[in-house]
Amino acid sequence: MQAPALDESARAGGAAETPAEFERSQAATATPVNMNTAPVVLITGASSGIGKICAEHLHARGYRVYGTSRRAAQTLHSSSDSFHLIAMDVTSEDSVAHALQSILAREGRLDVVFNNAGDGIAGSVEDTSIEEARQQLDTNFFGVLRVCRAALPILRRQGAGLIVNVSSLGGLVGLPFQGLYSASKFAVEGMTEVLRMEVRPFGVRVALIEPGDFRTGFTAQRRKVLAAQRDGAYSERFGKALAVMERDETHGADPLAVARLLERIINTRSPRPRYKVGGFLQTLSVGLLRKILPQKVFEYLLMASYGIA
Ligand SMILES: NC(=O)c1ccc[n+]([C@@H]2O[C@H](COP(=O)([O-])OP(=O)(O)OC[C@H]3O[C@@H](n4cnc5c(N)ncnc54)[C@H](OP(=O)(O)O)[C@@H]3O)[C@@H](O)[C@H]2O)c1
Repeated sequence: MQAPALDESARAGGAAETPAEFERSQAATATPVNMNTAPVVLITGASSGIGKICAEHLHARGYRVYGTSRRAAQTLHSSSDSFHLIAMDVTSEDSVAHALQSILAREGRLDVVFNNAGDGIAGSVEDTSIEEARQQLDTNFFGVLRVCRAALPILRRQGAGLIVNVSSLGGLVGLPFQGLYSASKFAVEGMTEVLRMEVRPFGVRVALIEPGDFRTGFTAQRRKVLAAQRDGAYSERFGKALAVMERDETHGADPLAVARLLERIINTRSPRPRYKVGGFLQTLSVGLLRKILPQKVFEYLLMASYGIA
């Protein structure tokens, strides 16, 4: 697929959405897609938060959207009022394969894959058991890899397609007491950078979205590592950092900004490698300040922002 191309001007990679860009993206997405040629979009983790808003937004704009949830019925639920919700657990290769097969059986093609499903664990690195770390990587990193591996043969055969992987600003900067979450997103970043180069000759485009804090179900779903639930060496600082994470997320940005960005990327002939999106100060500090400040100064400011300097 190549949806009607609304090519963006060449810009330096990694810049965040500025108000002017946001306005432009609004204008660029003003016309809904033609229903007859509407791209088929898979969105993992569409029962809540960013994925749900993206699925609703693209469905309303005329895209043929298949959102996934572990809790969806195995049989394809279909209604013109909303996007299709299908079952997928990204930690199961069979479940991923089954979901892709059912989309292909119905549509005969797949144009966009938005790897969004994910969750978070919090706790110090030392307090995180290997099993807890493994679970985090299994969903956030291997889940993305499973879906990419299942979708790529389809996209390569078509000679066209787009994969957008959801990372995080925490995939660019290690966040205190979210070490394994950051590790999972750093892994997504590295894999996606490489994938982009490998699949370009097949006409497959690849990009990353790096959200800052957004108001979603993520905060309520976050698991605290078992050892952090007891009094220990990290308890006081963990408590402070956790309170800041939760406050920032619950006061975070509206996920509709991610949906609009995703639509803009879909309509971009040659997407940038990465797109930051979120509050101005967060994207600025991870984008610009991290580049210009000495690492030790940036680290101090980051710790201070979590109340643990
Ligand atoms: N919210 C933020 O501030 C923020 C910031 C940066 C990055 N992100 C990233 O954005 C993505 C979406 O998060 P969100 O904030 O929208 O959180 P959310 O509201 O909790 O939604 C997470 C979605 O992922 C799905 N999911 C979780 N584990 C899954 C699994 N094993 N298999 C399949 N689906 C699974 C959930 O579906 P079911 O439970 O129904 O299966 C749900 O639909 C995540 O990758 C997250 O890391 C979020």
